Amino acid sequence: MARTPLIAGNWKMHKTQEQAEEYVQALLPRVSAVDGVDIAICVPFTDLQPMVDSTRGSPVEVFAQNMHHAPEGAFTGEISSPMLIELDVRGVVLGHSERRALFGETDRALALKVPAALAAGLVPILCVGETEEERDNDETDRKLRQQINDDLAGVPDDELASVVIAYEPIWAIGTGRVATDEQAQEAIAFIRALVAGRDSRAAESVRILYGGSVKPENASELLALEDVDGALVGGASLEAESFAQIVAATPTTL
Ligand code: 13P
Repeated sequence: MARTPLIAGNWKMHKTQEQAEEYVQALLPRVSAVDGVDIAICVPFTDLQPMVDSTRGSPVEVFAQNMHHAPEGAFTGEISSPMLIELDVRGVVLGHSERRALFGETDRALALKVPAALAAGLVPILCVGETEEERDNDETDRKLRQQINDDLAGVPDDELASVVIAYEPIWAIGTGRVATDEQAQEAIAFIRALVAGRDSRAAESVRILYGGSVKPENASELLALEDVDGALVGGASLEAESFAQIVAATPTTL
């Protein structure tokens, strides 16, 4: 089963509208000829509308970084799927480790958010991954199993393939300490096996990304791994040139 790779840049809380516009004007010419790789930028809420407008007709898709599961309600400070859909946003990052660790995002909330995103027609990028302590204690598989089981519990088997999963070991995020090829391949193959436990056909087509200190220098090696279907890129996505280099390093199935 050929899976179209996805390279997604997670800007986190970076870039005003002015900075975002400057970035996208630098990025578009660098990726205009790319074929066989899906490209997304996951931007702060205030950048969504201008980035959707500026990328229209280009290969770059615009994703949000969070959403509430309810379509509307008394949830001060939150944004819902109809609000994202109205802007032509294509998808949403859910369960990033920064949201889990710093903003109290729970697996229970994610069990509602992932199906809500799918029902709205958004592509969810569900982030999972272990802490350094969990890896040292041989608890990586347990953590991944628990997150995948809990967070995807509300997704019907025949929709599992529409979810994108990002394996982001927390110790590799923003640290420059990239996972080894063996660590990335092993964890991502394990996640694929967990999906296969639910539905073997979904496991063949579900895209599983690696995230954590992906740079132009290490991208081609990571992206060539058998089960790695792309990357979720933080720091190196903030410069158009380095993000475009990672896109260019992606092996295509064409
Ligand atoms: P870095 O690429 O900066 O390590 O961040 C990874 C990440 O958290 C992407 O979501």
